[in-house]
Amino acid sequence: MRSALMLGCLLACGPDAGEGESASSTDRIVSSDAEPRPRLRSPAEAPDLAPDDPERVQVELTAAPHSFEVAGQAVEGWAYNAQVPGPTLRLTRGQILEVTLHNALTDPTTIHWHGLHVPFEMDGATWMHDPVQPGQSFTYSFIVDQVGTFWYHPHFDTARQVDLGLYGAIVVDDPDEPEVDLDVVAILDAWAEIDDRDDHHGLDGTSPLLTVNGARDPILEAPPGSVARIRWINAANLAYAGIRSEGMTVIAGDQGLLAAPRHGEVLLTPGERAETEHLLGEAVEILGDPWSLYGGRTPGPVQRLLTVEPSEVREAPQSPAWAFSGLPPTPDPLSTDLVYVLQGDPMTQDWRINGERFPDITPFHLDLDAEAILEVRNLSGSEHPFHLHGHAFEVLSRDGVAPPYREIVDTVNVRLFESLRLRLVADNPGSWMVHCHILPHADQGMMTILGVGDGPHEPHDHRGR
Ligand code: C2O
Ligand code: CU
Ligand code: CU
Repeated sequence: MRSALMLGCLLACGPDAGEGESASSTDRIVSSDAEPRPRLRSPAEAPDLAPDDPERVQVELTAAPHSFEVAGQAVEGWAYNAQVPGPTLRLTRGQILEVTLHNALTDPTTIHWHGLHVPFEMDGATWMHDPVQPGQSFTYSFIVDQVGTFWYHPHFDTARQVDLGLYGAIVVDDPDEPEVDLDVVAILDAWAEIDDRDDHHGLDGTSPLLTVNGARDPILEAPPGSVARIRWINAANLAYAGIRSEGMTVIAGDQGLLAAPRHGEVLLTPGERAETEHLLGEAVEILGDPWSLYGGRTPGPVQRLLTVEPSEVREAPQSPAWAFSGLPPTPDPLSTDLVYVLQGDPMTQDWRINGERFPDITPFHLDLDAEAILEVRNLSGSEHPFHLHGHAFEVLSRDGVAPPYREIVDTVNVRLFESLRLRLVADNPGSWMVHCHILPHADQGMMTILGVGDGPHEPHDHRGR
């Protein structure tokens, strides 16, 4: 059995918290008092078992129970290859990724490739395919024609399995991108009191304790005068993370380089990724702002997530020449093909899309290669990261306001009472999951199906998510 982790209480119920301080949340920065501070390490990469085959990266992942430590506390969780976060899968655009999953758990499981446009049979969702049973293996294989930071996690009993530690990063390199001195994966997770099932991640998500690769408030050592590229993945079940640092540039999002860089801060909701660049003259602190699911940035302690520390102070280096496209957003045709209304409230935890709860849903359909405009309206009592499988989509507008540059993502936050307009080219046939990436919301029903192309879109298995 897992031990109780009370870390969330350090923030949510500690002596400094909850005393009605309404002062700016920048007043108080919560950092760890652990001495010496832990060192951040990028999760070890999975060895390529086909090193002589330039077209393919071949990996084995075994999902099994595993005891590990989070911020000095013992957790009885689950892991891929006895490592939390799981092994980083690293490949180059155009390669085939071949992963054999061995299920050494007592529960069925799958792997879903979040953000990658895989064929439907490889997607790891159990709407139409069987999960991998205990003691069984399955080989996922697909070509990767995207660039950026992605992640993998189970899609069966998802909230619980991800929460127990089953997740890892996928880094897809573009040989044309400039190299940096330090290229690091930083996976955020939140830990509160771990009890039996369901979500353990920070109550309402307001003040979770975020760890980076399982470490609280670690130090990342850097060569002097170096450029650091940090690949953030929010793997928390429900905690939002506002990431902020002086001199930080956001260079990439869910789907590789942004059309234009952004400065200062980035909100990462569960499932989202961002890459940040740090020009290291001297040490920089990266802070996590408190966000509430019930209305955005909120007063409360700011958490120090990570300090990047060059071994000596030098003049800050130049930013390498990233190939930002500078593209403007696609003009909104002002027609609407599909409407998703997000409903529910935190009191009843009755989360729905268009009045329906998964698996009792009516799938939408699009013709293969159709260009569709989706409107997502949040009429619920919480924010929701809206996620679609098998595709990326463009954010055309938020409450009628177009973003300054083209914005292509696979997960997008929908704020309270906000309406988003999204443009999708439905070029990947299948019966794709559409869901909120607050995993307890998805497990409680905030999930539906978008059928693309011909073929059956009816349920095969209702048990798995
Ligand atoms: Cu991270 Cu259904 O996805
Ligand atoms: Cu996904
Ligand atoms: Cu939600």
